[in-house]
Amino acid sequence: MAERWTRDSWRNKPIIQVPEYPDQAALQNVERQLAGYPPLVFAGEARNLKEALGRVANGEGFLLQGGDCAESFTDPSANNISANNIRDFLRVFLQMAVVLTYAASVPVVKVGRIAGQFAKPRSSPVEKKNGIELPSYRGDIINGPEFTAAARVPDPQRLIEAYRHSASTLNLIRALTHGGYASLGRVHQWMLDLDPKSGQRYTELADRISEALAFMQACGLDLEKHPELKTTDFYTSHEALLLGFEQALTREDSTHPGTWCATSAHMVWIGDRTRQLDHAHVDFCRGIINPLGLKCGPSSKIDEMLRLIDVLNPENEPGRLTLIVRTGAEKVGEMLPQMIRAVKREGKSVVWSCDPMHGNTITATTGYKTRPFDLILKELKSFFQVHAAEGTHAGGVHLEMTGQNVTECTGGAHAITDEGLNARYHTLCDPRLNAEQAIEMAFLMADLLKAERAHRVKPLPAAAGL
Ligand code: PEP
Ligand code: CO
Repeated sequence: MAERWTRDSWRNKPIIQVPEYPDQAALQNVERQLAGYPPLVFAGEARNLKEALGRVANGEGFLLQGGDCAESFTDPSANNISANNIRDFLRVFLQMAVVLTYAASVPVVKVGRIAGQFAKPRSSPVEKKNGIELPSYRGDIINGPEFTAAARVPDPQRLIEAYRHSASTLNLIRALTHGGYASLGRVHQWMLDLDPKSGQRYTELADRISEALAFMQACGLDLEKHPELKTTDFYTSHEALLLGFEQALTREDSTHPGTWCATSAHMVWIGDRTRQLDHAHVDFCRGIINPLGLKCGPSSKIDEMLRLIDVLNPENEPGRLTLIVRTGAEKVGEMLPQMIRAVKREGKSVVWSCDPMHGNTITATTGYKTRPFDLILKELKSFFQVHAAEGTHAGGVHLEMTGQNVTECTGGAHAITDEGLNARYHTLCDPRLNAEQAIEMAFLMADLLKAERAHRVKPLPAAAGL
């Protein structure tokens, strides 16, 4: 029988990737304060997302998840106020969703890495520069990115700041997605200065959507009465790494007494470094009702993965668990078929999502941490190929991306080179696809998804009439 779970049972488990706060009393004080703040999301919304993901698990939809590797309290590009950053991200994300929905005729479940993606696991606890060694930056919710001893001290006040940023970001997202900005009638206005090829493709697609809307209106359909066309469901997610913060925002669901929701986001995931079965992060996540992600990197073992699935989704509820596979382009062809076969053999329901970013990070000749566009695409293509061969659904993608015109990943239509990375390299952590690269990737994914649909959806038998 499973051990009893409480919001704080994780505190009795081994834990890694935790900051060392010099002032524990101050930390406890802040956590108590947060526990009295209003929830950021409502449990019913998390359940709606779980239902939508349940349909994806059953092959009827596609999960688009993406955003910054690490969100920042201050805008790192310095020439944009953060409201513009949020709006630009949403605009690119909506464009990508429209490309996927229209081109591949599938509902797209939209989940941002936003409004709470502030805590980062690190490969090394220290960073060295010019002979000086300091604790690593662990995300704005913990310490500062500046390379000074003072900035790198974990500061509990940052938890309050993270709550405030999450709340105001989420508020703007809710306003934009329900106040008219996300209306399909604005599909042309989302347009960015894209490169001619993607730009033309996007304009053609937007034209077809406008024509379809005009056609429906001419047939007598009152578009004003259809909220599906004027608003969009957009969900938030982040890595559940800083468990004191997560615990403080975990609340009983008043509509389902006895169940608990992490109200810091609709969906949370367990990172590749913190997925040990008997450790704190897995313990915390097993007890909340939110849809969960589990990163599965190159060190994943099949047995361990199956046990994690049992612990995290004991009722085998569709949509509860998304396996975010991030083995890297070289290993996915070998590892993914074994994972899929084991999950199928055990009769488990999962969403299969591909994170083509984290297994493909390299150091450029100019010293920057980067990811080549072609390598990202290669992992995605292999992911789709393996699913086609196994007869399963390539259910989603997990990207690090921004709405800004940064130069962090090499390649893409503008062929960013190793030397070009220096121009606008703004990320606080991992390199992100810029707006153009993200939309280009969406078109390439739409082609893959369309091919999968053509393969899976059997034509009606001739006797079906009409
Ligand atoms: C991330 O998503 O930014 C991350 C750290 O991923 P992973 O846990 O897969 O390394
Ligand atoms: Co990252």
